[in-house]
Amino acid sequence: MPQTRRDFLKQVGIAGGAGVMLHSMGALGLSPAAAAETPPFTPPKASELARHGRKRVLILGGGIAGLTTAYELGKAGYRCTILEARDRPGGRSWSVRGGTTETDLKGQTQRARFSRGQYMNAGPARLPQHHVTVDYCRELGVELETFVNQNADAYLYRTGAHNLAGQPIRHRAAKADVYGYVSELLAKATDQGALDTYLTQADKDALIALLRNFGSLGAKVAGDPSASYRYTGSGRRGYAIEPGVTAGEPIAPYALSDVLASGIGNYFSFELGFDQAMQMLQPVGGMDRIAYAFERAIGRDKIEYGAEVSAFGNTSTGVEVEYSTGGRRTKKATADFLVCTIPPHLAATIPSNLPPEVVSALAYARPSNAGKIGLEYDRRWWELDHKIYGGITNADNELGNVWYPSSGFHGERGTMIGYYNTGSNATTYGTLTPRGRLAKALDQGAAIHGDVYKQDLRSSFSVDWASTKYSEGAWVGWPSRTDGNYDRLLEPSGNVYFAGDHLSYTIAWQHGAMVSARAAVESLHTRVVSA
Ligand code: FAD
Ligand code: PHE
Repeated sequence: MPQTRRDFLKQVGIAGGAGVMLHSMGALGLSPAAAAETPPFTPPKASELARHGRKRVLILGGGIAGLTTAYELGKAGYRCTILEARDRPGGRSWSVRGGTTETDLKGQTQRARFSRGQYMNAGPARLPQHHVTVDYCRELGVELETFVNQNADAYLYRTGAHNLAGQPIRHRAAKADVYGYVSELLAKATDQGALDTYLTQADKDALIALLRNFGSLGAKVAGDPSASYRYTGSGRRGYAIEPGVTAGEPIAPYALSDVLASGIGNYFSFELGFDQAMQMLQPVGGMDRIAYAFERAIGRDKIEYGAEVSAFGNTSTGVEVEYSTGGRRTKKATADFLVCTIPPHLAATIPSNLPPEVVSALAYARPSNAGKIGLEYDRRWWELDHKIYGGITNADNELGNVWYPSSGFHGERGTMIGYYNTGSNATTYGTLTPRGRLAKALDQGAAIHGDVYKQDLRSSFSVDWASTKYSEGAWVGWPSRTDGNYDRLLEPSGNVYFAGDHLSYTIAWQHGAMVSARAAVESLHTRVVSA
């Protein structure tokens, strides 16, 4: 007798429980469970390892991938040691606080003077709620709060030769005008028969109803197609004087051609991104809370800091690593296996006995740059003067993005990100001295926010990832993922495994580092227990 979907689900429910059933229902299109599942992971169990001895694993790099590897293998009884060149866990997952000192590859030293409780997340700062990072926060007891990734009252700032250039435009105003005009044009086209090939009359009626709602359009004017479905502005875009006991004074929309010429509509797709849509989260007190929670869970004694790996490779019995601590003589460590999480473009330059095709696969990854500056103010002027509580102002000049803090509202002081930029904009800022970066950031920020941007500044700290030791880039890209290089690194080379966000389809996210580490852990463990 053929099985019905109902029979199938009943069996799944009995065998796998409600979670599995909901997932299966989603796969069959029967429930809202189409909610994404994180890539499947079966953590190794101590009971499985018992017969095989407690294997030793050296992990190169104590960033999020290295920490995840040590955590998962350690839970199952593997004897792990992390060798980390920096003097802290987390790698790129780095929160700068008062007292943080960093010397970049050009020899420029900065010492952060942020006040107690103030910090900047120099690398990762936001977490989508579906990332495995959030699961680890739950498991490790890292408290989370909302990260405001989108704010209707933050600004868009566009340069160029058009009428809206050089003026800060609130997101809500830009959105109202863009949605309004696009809706008006589509409603008119629909009403005047331009889409008759594609739409039935019922479709057309439904579409026009949708567009009137979406764009805040006027009604059809009988016998006057051009006066029909007009967008003439709305309270959505904000008021010159807000409604009180008298009606508010809405601000008139910009002209259609000005809106189109300015490109202010080109930023909204950002908030639709799978990984950038609200709700977003951040750890309370700084992103490095995750790395330190891992360190606690793994055991501080399992991590050797200041350990710069200078050579590694396979031996006849396992693996061997050479490393130096503080310039003193080279140390050696041996183990059964090795997991290398050092960024690929750096790992490729470390002497090893890996086959040339593995080294060239590592070198194939291309680093790209990003930069940030943290600005601590003694007055939260963005809240007091601009009524902005968190969120992002997007600029098309070298600033890229300005972030207002998502926490500490109405506090005495606050730290914002004065720029977060990538690519050539990051390089433009990165080539300046820290003092030069600050001066440029203040000028460009003041053009958007006014002179208040230059007042009440207490301290600043800037990071150029390209010139940051042990990273030399923000993240990497693969010129191709189908020419064998990427796949080669998913497999071990002898007893050497590779992990890191570069070996995932979520590069530039801690989630990528975690799922890649999990994949290496599963592969290594499967090999051990099947030996
Ligand atoms: P890394 O963190 O680079 O770890 C590699 C480790 O190897 C480092 O600790 C390094 O010190 C060490 N190492 C290097 N050389 C040696 C050596 N010779 N010997 C020993 N150790 C060595 N992710 C998010 O989830 N959300 C975000 O909002 C986000 N934003 C980001 C913004 C920026 C500006 C940047 C730079 C990154 C951002 N990311 C974000 C991405 C996130 O930081 C990474 O995906 C993740 O931290 C990578 O972890 P990893 O362990 O693979 O690599
Ligand atoms: N994950 C990083 C961030 O959110 C880098 C990134 C930016 C990735 C934009 C995708 C899109 O800042």
